[in-house]
Amino acid sequence: MLDGPAFDYIAGAAGRELTAAANTAAFERWGLVYRVLRDDSLTDPSLTLLGTPMSLPVLLAPAGVADLAHPEGERAAARAAAETGVTMVLSAGTSSSMEEVADAAPQGHRWFQLAWSGDEKLARSLLARAQAAGYEAVMLMGDCYRAGWRPREMDSGFSPFRRGHGIGNYVSDPRFCELAGLDAPGLGFREDPVRLEAVVSTWDRVLTKPALRPRDLAVLRSWTDLPIAVKGVCRPEEAKQLVDAGADAIVVSNHGGRQLDSGVAALDCLAPVVAAVDGKAPVLFDSGVRTGTDVLVALALGASAVMIGRPWLYGLAIGGQAGVEHVLRCLGAEFTDALTLAGHRRCDTLTRDDLVPLGTPGTGI
Ligand SMILES: Cc1cc2nc3c(=O)[nH]c(=O)nc-3n(C[C@H](O)[C@H](O)[C@H](O)COP(=O)(O)O)c2cc1C
Repeated sequence: MLDGPAFDYIAGAAGRELTAAANTAAFERWGLVYRVLRDDSLTDPSLTLLGTPMSLPVLLAPAGVADLAHPEGERAAARAAAETGVTMVLSAGTSSSMEEVADAAPQGHRWFQLAWSGDEKLARSLLARAQAAGYEAVMLMGDCYRAGWRPREMDSGFSPFRRGHGIGNYVSDPRFCELAGLDAPGLGFREDPVRLEAVVSTWDRVLTKPALRPRDLAVLRSWTDLPIAVKGVCRPEEAKQLVDAGADAIVVSNHGGRQLDSGVAALDCLAPVVAAVDGKAPVLFDSGVRTGTDVLVALALGASAVMIGRPWLYGLAIGGQAGVEHVLRCLGAEFTDALTLAGHRRCDTLTRDDLVPLGTPGTGI
């Protein structure tokens, strides 16, 4: 269960939380128009994305410090994802290392999220470890090179990273240990104030590379054979530049409203980005997905799949692995039911023709 500050850390968003509210409200502006007299025996919601087979067009979004929600954290979530055939995108900011998560659910499919470190050797070490541990794609964190202004966190003064949560991928990395002056992977560093300070200040310094540009993606492309998705894209012209620079997929997302508050819903950015990418790469979507029909709306607007963030963290807080499984099974069953009722058998036949705008439709940015 979550105490107050931990709940606020997960539920909270930037500023007045207008973007977070807009993300969920945006789905209410679209209506699904169904078809009649269909065969309902053959619905198959599975798909393959960037070479990864998936039971549903739903992934677990990368979310750091999941151990705030449950002591088993991302290891429990990885097991739930594997049980349901769902792909987990492991955050860079996890308390377990990427190898520990892979060992927890060896049969599962997983992608690794890279925070592009300012230290090249560290960035390359993280990428190499991910590939060796069986992660099948890399999702570059494009929108979080600095933290958003999050009043709930400031009010409570709760900062999990400063307490040494969420840096499991770093303290297990030989290059990071070298940078932090640790003679061995920093297990037990949280209990030692001197080591904790060395680890956290080093992590803070090397977590992200300043002044990245879309064209820098070509460098990342040269460092790994894994497919690369870029997360956090909302502008069509940036999506196009990233695909031209070697991105294999684009993730339309505003980080669940946790970065820039303003009120532009991520869903309103989806169709313009899909149009700009023009079929050259799949487009994923997150921020505000809560129901099976939300998944349908995003797919009809051009997404190949969606990710969920807070819903799996809440499931984890309530029931550990079983809680995340429950969230995924309910979302999957509702989506499959809705897909069938809308008159489709597969995810990739949904189009804008399945939707009507209700009230004032989103206009993009
Ligand atoms: C507690 C929390 C931690 C998160 N950590 C990360 C992270 O480490 N990297 C990242 O790219 N996104 C992170 N996100 C954002 C999610 O990947 C995702 O974009 C967002 O949660 C989707 O919105 P939703 O919560 O409305 O589903 C985090 C979100 C939450 C709620």
